[in-house]
Amino acid sequence: MKILAINGSPNGKNGNTDVMLQHFLKGCKRAGGEVETVYLKDKNIHHCSGCFNCWTKTPGKCIHKDDMGELLDKILQTDIMVYATPLYYFTVTGIMKDFMDRMLPLNSSEIVKQGASYSHPGRFNASRPKTVLISNCGFPGKYNFSGLVETFKVMTKGNLVASILCDKGGALKSASINEQLKQLYMPFFSALETAGKEIVSHGHIEAQTESILSRDIIEDETYVKLANSSWRK
Ligand SMILES: Cc1cc2nc3c(=O)[nH]c(=O)nc-3n(C[C@H](O)[C@H](O)[C@H](O)COP(=O)(O)O)c2cc1C
Repeated sequence: MKILAINGSPNGKNGNTDVMLQHFLKGCKRAGGEVETVYLKDKNIHHCSGCFNCWTKTPGKCIHKDDMGELLDKILQTDIMVYATPLYYFTVTGIMKDFMDRMLPLNSSEIVKQGASYSHPGRFNASRPKTVLISNCGFPGKYNFSGLVETFKVMTKGNLVASILCDKGGALKSASINEQLKQLYMPFFSALETAGKEIVSHGHIEAQTESILSRDIIEDETYVKLANSSWRK
């Protein structure tokens, strides 16, 4: 089973998002998944020009000749897409949004009704990959992710098999270095690995794992104090 992970953090391998992503992917690999991580910060991806040439003059091909062509080929071959993005103004980062917009050549121009909603069917393959959303944000509170999750639910048309969300995410990177924080975050990191295994083996995350992933790791006020003092250094 092929798993394509897209990391949309401008901090790439050095960010909080990648801490979550790599624990999850470790579990996917343990279950036999074939994993690839793409760091969007290292890719040359233009904004979508909105010209619709990919639907008209050159169906399925974009006018921009950049790294997105190669990524579209990868998307078509994958079974599971993992979108890993920090929360930026309650949604994805700019580089992730560019990546998403540039997937337009994969759809055809027709609008069709599927169930209660309308969409553009896939141009090259009928089946869409299963989708996993991984995100973290700087504020305390899971409510911060409500808009992001809704976007992915609508976008993936029922193919969003898991959303793994970590608020107070500013501590993630430190938790992979600082021994005291590491102990605190250990159950969360190990549940991320279990989640990766379960997604590859069963296509979903088990309730027991979900409950560990959604547990509060650090008390809000403690985190806020730590975060605020880190800016004063
Ligand atoms: C431009 C910008 C916008 C952000 N917007 C939000 C936000 O809306 N809500 C929030 O809780 N955190 C927000 N954050 C904080 C990031 O989500 C947080 O720092 C995250 O850990 C960054 O992940 P990374 O280290 O992988 O880049 C924002 C950060 C930046 C730089």
